[in-house]
Amino acid sequence: MSRKVPHLEELRKMDREHHLHPFTDHAAMHPSGTHILTTGKGVYLEGEEGKLLDGLAGLWCVNVGYGRKEIVDAVAKQMQELSFYPSFFNSTTEPAVRLAERLGRLAPGDLNYSVFSNSGSEANETALKIIRQYQILKGKPNRMKILTRDYAYHGVTLATASMTGLPNCQIPYGLPLPGFLHAPAPYAYAVGREKDAEAYGQECVAATKKLIEKEGPETIGAMFLEPVQGAGGVIVPPPGYLAAMRTLAREYEILFVADEVITAFGRLGAWFVSEMWDLKPDLMILAKGLTSGYISMGATMVSQPIADVLMKGGYFAHGFTYSGHPVAAAAALANMEILKKEKLVEKTKDKVGPYFQRRLMEFSGHPAVGEVRGVGLIGAMELLPKGGRKDLKPGMNLGIVGAAKVRSEGAIVRGIRDLLAFAPPLVITEGEIDEMFASVRRGIDKLWS
Ligand SMILES: Cc1ncc(COP(=O)(O)O)c(C=O)c1O
Repeated sequence: MSRKVPHLEELRKMDREHHLHPFTDHAAMHPSGTHILTTGKGVYLEGEEGKLLDGLAGLWCVNVGYGRKEIVDAVAKQMQELSFYPSFFNSTTEPAVRLAERLGRLAPGDLNYSVFSNSGSEANETALKIIRQYQILKGKPNRMKILTRDYAYHGVTLATASMTGLPNCQIPYGLPLPGFLHAPAPYAYAVGREKDAEAYGQECVAATKKLIEKEGPETIGAMFLEPVQGAGGVIVPPPGYLAAMRTLAREYEILFVADEVITAFGRLGAWFVSEMWDLKPDLMILAKGLTSGYISMGATMVSQPIADVLMKGGYFAHGFTYSGHPVAAAAALANMEILKKEKLVEKTKDKVGPYFQRRLMEFSGHPAVGEVRGVGLIGAMELLPKGGRKDLKPGMNLGIVGAAKVRSEGAIVRGIRDLLAFAPPLVITEGEIDEMFASVRRGIDKLWS
């Protein structure tokens, strides 16, 4: 029995008997039992394994770090004043209005309106319905197909899992649904093209164009893109790729949706990457960093022209009981205030992000590392077997093996296929980055043992 988590074995037994976890191989987890985390402060978590540096910010979301009293106080105050009231039927609450206004003011271009929800999946699902309604109202009911990419991650509902481009999210559920198209991702390393990634990116654009032509542009309503693909393996787009995809969407009058669930709120050193990379999206998807994960919330931001069409289009019959939940909105406002006051976005861009990238790039000569890549405070490290790249086989899951080794050296990182992914809280210091990469080094030094 561990001293750190009271009732650990009892909790593990209850967990085994009653709890189905998201994205978990239960047969593999049950013999040793689930990990239980108990407290968090800054970039550190504590649980039955002791103190761990969280190199993934929970699930790419705890941007302002754990234990922020400002958010706790804002939430408690709102709960005392008005714990809940919906935004249905001509009513709303002050935090929901203030958050919509703040997002509208901050977001790039004419993204002036927000539809609130509870998660990234719901925010993408909302976008899908808005796009269908918009196309119908514009007299283009045939534009119902949706274009995304291989390795994309847009969520897990039936429709958003159909947009996701990962076989393990689709095959068990008989997905994708009809009408969801997948273009190649600019994942140069996966096809051995990392030395000419830029050219490979343009080939992906050409393949996307071909797919659009084959399907018929007049049947495609929207293209969804994560500026940096996160859960698919931190795929950083090569120069010119995103701009060319944006041009393609415009050329064929396909709506362009930036899924910024991971990338917004400072992760890449900008409030919104759409602004930094001039993507001019018609819709933008937010969640995660919106509240730094303190309470669940998603937002679908739509441009003024789309909002105008919707508002003239009659009754908007969409929304969740908790759309614009006042407590979540209060948490989001307090979170955004911390980001602003502590200049976390600017620090990520000018100081901590570049330092993190420098330290990450030092791994490029390591014998167990095939590639490192990243931008701002997100990064990935492709791992290799002892025999090198030629011996890499599907199903080796070196990332899963590597992440477990790094965890036993004191840091949580994410294993995906054969890679490690990193996305620490933006409050991380240079010393803590050193500490995180020291754990990573000790872990991968033991990868083959
Ligand atoms: C880019 C992106 N979109 C959507 C989602 C889905 O968000 P949620 O898990 O909150 O439903 C995620 C989650 O990781 C994501 O990374």
